[in-house]
Amino acid sequence: MTQPVIHILNGPNLNLLGHREPEIYGHQTLEDIARDCAALGHELGLETHLLQSNHEGALVDMIQAARGVAQGIIINPAAYTHTSVAILDALAAFEGPVIEVHLSNIYKREAFRHHSYISARADAVIAGCGGQGYLLALRRMAVLVA
Ligand code: DQA
Repeated sequence: MTQPVIHILNGPNLNLLGHREPEIYGHQTLEDIARDCAALGHELGLETHLLQSNHEGALVDMIQAARGVAQGIIINPAAYTHTSVAILDALAAFEGPVIEVHLSNIYKREAFRHHSYISARADAVIAGCGGQGYLLALRRMAVLVA
């Protein structure tokens, strides 16, 4: 039996995790998060692929490429959360579950971060749990794709 494949997509500046505003985003790097997700995925019987881009169109391409390949998408669209109809539309064309993750609690921050275009499509939203949010999302995803 092949394992469900989960794509974990990350938007702009998340390549700098661990170095970028660690008081907000924590000390874990994206590589640390990828490793932790792979380990938990192994336990849960999920194959995880973590990708990152600083470019909106590249993220749209990644979401389109997941069609027919991945059973679920976990996405932290970073700043594009608050601006991108294109990412929302791409996710709407994806047939599987989508979980939106934010390291910080966006509702506790500046008003412009309180609105997410992505939440209109997301089956679940996790914010404010730091890097652990990706692991919580993966546990929920295991239930959704079972
Ligand atoms: C973020 C929150 C966004 O508002 C911000 O632009 C990010 C990261 C988070 O993970 O907390 O880059 O998505």
